[in-house]
Amino acid sequence: MTVLLSDQRAVQSAEDVVGIRQAVRQRAVELGFNLVDQTKIVTAASELARNTVQYGGGGTVTIEALEDLGRRGLRLTFADQGPGIADIELAMKDGYTTGGGLGLGLSGARRLSNDFSIESAPGQGTRITITRWR
Ligand SMILES: Nc1ncnc2c1ncn2[C@@H]1O[C@H](COP(=O)(O)OP(=O)(O)OP(=O)(O)O)[C@@H](O)[C@H]1O
Ligand SMILES: [Mg+2]
Repeated sequence: MTVLLSDQRAVQSAEDVVGIRQAVRQRAVELGFNLVDQTKIVTAASELARNTVQYGGGGTVTIEALEDLGRRGLRLTFADQGPGIADIELAMKDGYTTGGGLGLGLSGARRLSNDFSIESAPGQGTRITITRWR
């Protein structure tokens, strides 16, 4: 697998979330994603970015354009040094929230991605990587 392009952005504020949505959309267009797939990856990015700000105390996102065996994809890695998640399985459940939200962000992001991985532990922060292939 080849990383064609990589850039990292801060995820600290609601304005950053808007910028991330735009950057992910632009990369997806460049990679030739159709409108449905653009919207899927942008929506997933938006949910993970919001969580990074709201629960992670801010962090970073790395946006990577990938090529593997002739197919192209977009990989997003959200990382923060916040409190972490004690029970990942519980946090992934539809409707689970500690912040008065709908509890659909993590589960939605997983459904909208082809690959989803999460590493998190109390005191260790949270790192979530998603990939969507064309
Ligand atoms: N980066 C993070 N750091 C710490 N806890 C997190 C992080 N992201 C998610 N969580 C925890 O996982 C829970 C579920 O997240 P999810 O995005 O699914 O729902 P929500 O943010 O509560 O609501 P919604 O996204 O639907 O508005 C959160 O309420 C929070 O407890
Ligand atoms: Mg959320």
